[in-house]
Amino acid sequence: MSDAPSGVRVRLWDGPVRLVHWSLVGLTGFSWWASEDHLDWHQWSGYAVVALVLFRIYWGFAGSGAARFSSFVRGPGTTLAYLKTVSSRVPSTTPGHNPLGALSIVAILLVLLVQVGTGLFAVDIDAYQGGPLSDRVSFDLGRQIAEIHELSFRALQALVVLHVGAVLFYLVWKRTDLIRPMITGQRLLPSDPGLGRAPWWRLALGVAVAGAIAWALSKGLRF
Ligand code: HEM
Repeated sequence: MSDAPSGVRVRLWDGPVRLVHWSLVGLTGFSWWASEDHLDWHQWSGYAVVALVLFRIYWGFAGSGAARFSSFVRGPGTTLAYLKTVSSRVPSTTPGHNPLGALSIVAILLVLLVQVGTGLFAVDIDAYQGGPLSDRVSFDLGRQIAEIHELSFRALQALVVLHVGAVLFYLVWKRTDLIRPMITGQRLLPSDPGLGRAPWWRLALGVAVAGAIAWALSKGLRF
């Protein structure tokens, strides 16, 4: 299946966007698996998710063309107008996330923030293990936060099902393969949207800051 019959091959998704995406896919599954009997690994996976999500939010402001929130987050009017056209069988040629996809992506990033944020303070039922900041809250509050941690994972699961369902809908119904561009970075579009590229130092700065914050949180902000 192709995304457009002819056009220009565009470098749509930069390396950081793709690396963050597929790392989040892997770590979401891994964290779920490790939440049963491997809480140490679960926590380390969580710190990696903290770094990835913080980096992705930063990259949404400082990254290259299609990675920027300003290039895909749209108001209710544009989103509703897009919703009315979504069932048509015409292949999608949006140079990046469409307005509906943008909503789900922002929702996933926010729920991931809640997920890792609550994990930092959550404590398990017998107070044997807890997040690195769990000693800053009472046991009861730590338990309530742990419940929110579980609830937000349900919300994340629902969003991911919706997200993958939407990607498959585009593949089957609209004959638009969004998956390959998220792997290769390249997409065939009717014309070159002229997406800018971010300089390497912005990438280095984002990696350093996001990594440092995740590391500091893993130490319970004690140095
Ligand atoms: C195997 C399962 C998955 C597939 C096939 C998949 C596929 C995709 C595709 C094709 C896009 C780009 C959509 C577009 O062109 O507008 C995308 C974006 C995105 N997906 Fe997934 N996804 C999967 C699982 C997940 C999971 C588990 C998460 C997070 C927990 C996630 C989070 C995101 C985010 C945050 C974006 C936006 C990328 C960015 O702009 O940085 N995805 N996904």
